[in-house]
Amino acid sequence: MQNLIMPTPYRILDIKKVTEIEFLFRIEYPEAKNIQFGQFMQISLPKIGECPISVTDFSAEEGWIEFLIRKVGIVTDELFNLHAGDLMPLRGPYGKGFDMKNYEGKKVVIATGGSGLAPVRSLINHIYKNPESVKEMELLFGFKDDSSILFRDEVIAWRKKHPMILTVDKGCGLDGECVGLVTEYVPQLKMTSDGFEDLEVIIVGPPNMMKYTALEFEKLGVPAEKIWVSFERKMSCAIGKCGHCRIDEVYVCLEGPVFNYSQAKYLID
Ligand SMILES: Cc1cc2nc3c(=O)[nH]c(=O)nc-3n(C[C@H](O)[C@H](O)[C@H](O)COP(=O)(O)OP(=O)(O)OC[C@H]3O[C@@H](n4cnc5c(N)ncnc54)[C@H](O)[C@@H]3O)c2cc1C
Ligand code: FES
Repeated sequence: MQNLIMPTPYRILDIKKVTEIEFLFRIEYPEAKNIQFGQFMQISLPKIGECPISVTDFSAEEGWIEFLIRKVGIVTDELFNLHAGDLMPLRGPYGKGFDMKNYEGKKVVIATGGSGLAPVRSLINHIYKNPESVKEMELLFGFKDDSSILFRDEVIAWRKKHPMILTVDKGCGLDGECVGLVTEYVPQLKMTSDGFEDLEVIIVGPPNMMKYTALEFEKLGVPAEKIWVSFERKMSCAIGKCGHCRIDEVYVCLEGPVFNYSQAKYLID
């Protein structure tokens, strides 16, 4: 009988420091064509533990996936001791991600807070490389300060092609022009001023950031059905067996982590 939670070891190709506490791991992964934007994998370290991490980007052609990992605890501390060439045991991919069918031919606004950029980066890169797949993409990113800005080179490339607001809570951002919370900049977005019929909004970040940013879009008249969020819930099995991720009757590991906000706004702990 197949063991559903048995991890498979994959080779680490490269590790890059992105910020003081976040490293980007590129892993050789020949099955990358099976990944959906926004899905996650379980990283399993023998005798240490497991943690769910979003696939931040992948290449089906070149056969790799990437994780942006923040060092916060038992498993992630240990991951920072690994080197290129070492093996990383993985299981997955798991969950429902961002289904491109919901965004094709639409105006897509993507708002992120901090490391919330990680789960949505593969989708942004897909649209960046295939701009004809959507009508338009507009980006709104919030970071704590200049040193927390993630994927700086990509952010600079994206903003040459797509309207972008990047704000920092304090200090100076990329150009120093925007300071304040993401919520303050929602009314300044170009796409929210020209009708919501073909608009889809994706919001990913800490729970309060998602809640108050969604509220700002709703205040402008954007219906909850046009808003998508991604949850980071404590998980264990990731296959709908243990109930760790459950909110009410919903198993976040199976039905999420990406939810339509018309459902997500009622998923309260
Ligand atoms: C779908 C999904 C996608 C995710 N994607 C990413 C990603 O792309 N990148 C990323 O870095 N993370 C991601 N996470 C979060 C990541 O899984 C957690 O940070 C994970 O807990 C790290 O595991 P750990 O063993 O290193 O940390 P843990 O040791 O579990 O600690 C995690 C946090 O919990 C606190 N903590 C631990 N034990 C206790 C306790 N007993 N009491 C109170 N607080 C405690 C720690 O201080 C720390 O802040 C994702 C989570 C989910 C569910
Ligand atoms: S993590 Fe076990 S049921 Fe979702």
